[in-house]
Amino acid sequence: MDPGEFAVEHLPRFRRELTDLLRIPSVSAKSEHAHDMRRAADWMAARMRATGLTAEIMPTPGHPVVLGSWREAGEGAPSVLIYGHYDVQPPEPLELWDSPPFDPTERDGRIYARGSADDKGQLFMHLAALEAHLHTRGELPFNVTVLAEGEEEVGSANLAPFVREHAERLACDCVIISDSNMFAEGLPSILFSLRGLAYFEIEVSGARSDLHSGQFGGTVANPANELARLIATLHDADGRVAVPGFYDDVIEWDDETLARVRSLPFDPEKFRSELEVPALAGEEGWNTLERLWLRPSCDVNGLLGGYTGEGAKTVLPNHAMAKVSFRLVPDQSPERVNELLRIHIDRVKAPGVAVEVRELHGGRPWRANLDPGLVQIASDALETAFGVRPVLQGEGGSIPIVTDFEELLGASALLLGFGLPGCNLHAPNEWFGINEFEKGIQALVEFYSSVGSSSGRASRAQEL
Ligand code: BES
Ligand code: MN
Ligand code: MN
Repeated sequence: MDPGEFAVEHLPRFRRELTDLLRIPSVSAKSEHAHDMRRAADWMAARMRATGLTAEIMPTPGHPVVLGSWREAGEGAPSVLIYGHYDVQPPEPLELWDSPPFDPTERDGRIYARGSADDKGQLFMHLAALEAHLHTRGELPFNVTVLAEGEEEVGSANLAPFVREHAERLACDCVIISDSNMFAEGLPSILFSLRGLAYFEIEVSGARSDLHSGQFGGTVANPANELARLIATLHDADGRVAVPGFYDDVIEWDDETLARVRSLPFDPEKFRSELEVPALAGEEGWNTLERLWLRPSCDVNGLLGGYTGEGAKTVLPNHAMAKVSFRLVPDQSPERVNELLRIHIDRVKAPGVAVEVRELHGGRPWRANLDPGLVQIASDALETAFGVRPVLQGEGGSIPIVTDFEELLGASALLLGFGLPGCNLHAPNEWFGINEFEKGIQALVEFYSSVGSSSGRASRAQEL
């Protein structure tokens, strides 16, 4: 049996195994799930061993990293690092799920569960594809390490130091990641970029306590008014971010990328109606895909302040807080945005309140340094499985470690995603398409046979 036949025959088992992993509520953000994080790491290590890898659970100051390896292809063979994350976002609000988030349920050709698409399902596909090779051929034509992280959803703060510390062990020619989406159903893609992230909490404080709004209103600054005013200074009338200097490091995208984005089959009206918004919005002068992938953005993620209970209470709150994030594009950096935001807020803040800015997390944007040989192999594999040649696309979300991998390991990253737009990442009713899961595994089986195909290992190693 060849690896492709093995994979097809074992697809039902792969689906069952993924279901087991999805039952573990590995929510990295919440300390009450520390034990579940450990269970998920144990599960990953056991599954790596069943794949035919050696596996180790490695501690970090936070949740552990699980490393699986098979490195018997020899010195001359290429080395591949596969990265994914076994942690998931909190499932709340629970009442909006049609089936419980950690009780995976198949409906309409989809597996509904928290983490099904982001990222357990996609990480699992790589183990399935490696297993298909190791269990039929007994070997791989390349050396491989699988790195499963447990802190991606909380910013990956401990991973860059880990990679630095273990750089020798993680040394590779390329990093393969599946933690993103296809461009559309039936249309696979390879990423040319990811946005970065700079995330802040802004707290405005006023008087020593809440005040009667009749007795004091109009005589002291109201932190809620002031926070609203501060937030309003973050954009101008054209939808541009109005923090001075914010665009200084934004690259001018090359004509090829601009043309590529324009040529994609994207219907903004469909995008609008699926979101059920009355109109699309954003920076003047750019279309929706450009706004999403090529341009930075700034958003309030949450607001807290004052009386929000039933009826009316006449009060000047003494605190107000906002969670504000910036999505960044090459070559912006979270550090620089942090400086610029503080300078801006100092300049515009009213004298009657105190404002504190706390940086929560950040990640650098990524622009692919696409290796033509590898893109060719991946495109052929995706075409074989999905029947369509993949497109190159950008991505508005962030995977903080990608840029670090490239810098610390001197390898380039290849991002092949199998989620579908609309699969409710981070939201209630997250799902992963069974068709994408199965075809994706077949694509990866094909990809991994070509990455190290016997036709000239040495030259392939160079090509990588
Ligand atoms: N897998 C996502 C990134 C992503 C989102 C890729 C949408 C493609 C489409 C990743 O798990 C994620 O959610 N990243 C966070 C980063 C943050 C927690 C530091 C993000 O983008 O908000
Ligand atoms: Mn993810
Ligand atoms: Mn995520």
